[in-house]
Amino acid sequence: MRILIIGSGGREHALVWKIAQSPLAEKIYCAPGNGGIADLAELVDIKADDVEKLLEFAIKEEIDFTVVGPEAPLAAGIVDRFREQGLKIFGPNKKASVLESSKVFAKELMKKYEIPTADFWIFSDQQAALDFVRAQSRPLVIKADGLCAGKGVFVCPGLEEQENAIKSIFTDKIFGTQANSIIIEELLEGEEASIIVISDSINFVTMASSQDHKRIFDDDQGPNTGGMGAYSPAPVIDSELLRKIQTSIISPTIQGMRKEGSIFSGVLYAGIMVTASGPKVLEFNVRFGDPETQAILPRLKSDLLQVLMKAEQGKLSGISLDWDERDCVCVVLASGGYPGNYEKGKAISGLNNFENEKDVVVFHAGTKKENGRFLTSGGRVLGVTGLGANIKEAMEKTYSAVSKISFDKMFFRRDIAARALNRENK
Ligand code: AMP
Ligand code: GLY
Repeated sequence: MRILIIGSGGREHALVWKIAQSPLAEKIYCAPGNGGIADLAELVDIKADDVEKLLEFAIKEEIDFTVVGPEAPLAAGIVDRFREQGLKIFGPNKKASVLESSKVFAKELMKKYEIPTADFWIFSDQQAALDFVRAQSRPLVIKADGLCAGKGVFVCPGLEEQENAIKSIFTDKIFGTQANSIIIEELLEGEEASIIVISDSINFVTMASSQDHKRIFDDDQGPNTGGMGAYSPAPVIDSELLRKIQTSIISPTIQGMRKEGSIFSGVLYAGIMVTASGPKVLEFNVRFGDPETQAILPRLKSDLLQVLMKAEQGKLSGISLDWDERDCVCVVLASGGYPGNYEKGKAISGLNNFENEKDVVVFHAGTKKENGRFLTSGGRVLGVTGLGANIKEAMEKTYSAVSKISFDKMFFRRDIAARALNRENK
């Protein structure tokens, strides 16, 4: 089969890496891809959100199956466009993608179908929002509606931060006109985890649990990023809690979407806060997580391509996934300055240390290949990923691999998976 994978990050490198192991995959293209993906797939110079050019390419190259990494092409309706032309593509259509692209839609769906989430209030008027937070005097979270590249959430313990967040969205329009409404939520306390399932619109299979590390600095300090590392499984999710998440969150969401007239086929990613009163949804995404995917796929023994094809055909019933029992840790190596300004074009050394290492894989994100050398080309550059018999061993293998790689102003967190280790040591 001829496969097209859309996107250019570490998540897409992991998808290409895993799908390339399937006996069904004869030829893999990736648009636009990155330096590391170039070793496994033919790169196509089309941006991930250029739906019409991607469609033209897929028709011309007779692509049998397309997998979409990021949310933007899904929200732009890539699945609808491909299917209109009789092409097979894995992911939710435009109507169903609104579960991620509109937080207001997601919150209203959760309220209607009694899916546990933080209490919330919706405002489309600045003054009303300001009056509300002044009357509350408690920690709150302010969220802009619409896709804001992961930057639309302000966790605000105090009134001053709450007022600033509201004004930055309505008056300064930092997210442009995308954000016409905001959601004000109660601030949830607990430990976060990501639960990712693959749905065929009726049935679903659950991927191994994982935990992201969103803040730039150790001990969850500093601004939010796209994700500085992840590990799988997340010990905070035991089997009882997982069942609860499946029955009280995942199933009612897929069924609720159906009742609302949206067939939800594709990835459903639930960002969960495990609170003292049970698991609650922080957010839904309609695509694989990044960097969670990099920590999950090395543990998947089953043929991912086959599972994605079954989901697209509506035939997931009876399918189960086989997992490697070992733990997996992914540490993101970033360009110094990220998530603010950073330099590009730095030569990366040490990448050829791992060719014979079967338990370490380095997923590329912001890299490009020039004259046989890898150069940095983005904020998050690499996801160094290691498997170990327990979390300690997985961390040691990963950080030992990290120590062999370098580029000018390289930056990374030194505490990825430390929370899981503490839990194991208790
Ligand atoms: P989101 O994009 O909605 O997942 O939000 C990004 C991050 O903000 C989450 O991963 C949490 O760390 C935090 N967050 C979002 N909503 C809440 C909430 N209601 N209470 C506490 N933290 C939150
Ligand atoms: N890791 C968070 C996300 O993919 O949105």
